[in-house]
Amino acid sequence: MQNSIHMPLQQKLKELQHAKQALLATNFYNFETLDGILKAAFSEGKSVILQLTKGSIEYLGLPVAMKLARAMLKLYGVEGWVHLDHGDSYELVAACLDEGFDSVMIDASEKSFSENVRITRRVVTLAKQYGANVEAELGYIAKLGQKNSELGYTEPTEAKLFVEETGVDALAVAIGSAHGFYKAEPKLDIGRLAEINRETEAVLVLHGASGIPGDLLRQAIQNGICKINLATEIKDTFMQTLRDSLQSNMEIDLRRVFPFATNAVAKLVQNKIRDIELKKS
Ligand code: 13P
Repeated sequence: MQNSIHMPLQQKLKELQHAKQALLATNFYNFETLDGILKAAFSEGKSVILQLTKGSIEYLGLPVAMKLARAMLKLYGVEGWVHLDHGDSYELVAACLDEGFDSVMIDASEKSFSENVRITRRVVTLAKQYGANVEAELGYIAKLGQKNSELGYTEPTEAKLFVEETGVDALAVAIGSAHGFYKAEPKLDIGRLAEINRETEAVLVLHGASGIPGDLLRQAIQNGICKINLATEIKDTFMQTLRDSLQSNMEIDLRRVFPFATNAVAKLVQNKIRDIELKKS
């Protein structure tokens, strides 16, 4: 079932890239984090991408995750797309497309260039039949527990070739960001990003936005990034708030405790949405 209410994500992202704007792509894990994200998108009057990883799909169950996301988007009247984040197999991508996802990421970035091309091209062929957006990753964006290295940054000429050979809509680029918390001040290679943007037709995605200051995110958006992925700060905010509330409170009615965490997520996402808006001087 494809959602017919809004424009395809690939078209929306292209429009945003031309306008030098971006969508926040937020990972959700349960009803409460989803509710917090949508409260923020609604109050800011913004569209949002709702992302699910394999882990979250396994936790919620694929049909529940999808139906929950669609029902909540409808309830809030927010324009939004459901996206598979870091899909690691053709089978998972196919299951998500069958369930009606608007967009899928196939992440074969740890494979060789030619393997990454082969796997991504196969996913693009499949996703076209559903009219879905496809994101892939080229280069090395450190995952949780991995070390970041400039050696793994995306090469602009390779990016051009990769996009031409795969026909992928969106490309996640390695320019200095990493998943999880940063141990040192995050830096982005904006010059490299600008060159990748000149070389490729695909829209560009920034992973690992947790902990990146707003001015750096805005610089990235000015140079081709139009999808900003946020996960760790959502999880962290939810759990920290829950921990704090439980320490001062022996309440056993979870319905009186979870809203603190939901509201904290809403506040965080609201601030991020404001952060990625170009500041008018
Ligand atoms: P963070 O967890 O660092 O926010 O990164 C999110 C992400 O890139 C999901 O794909």
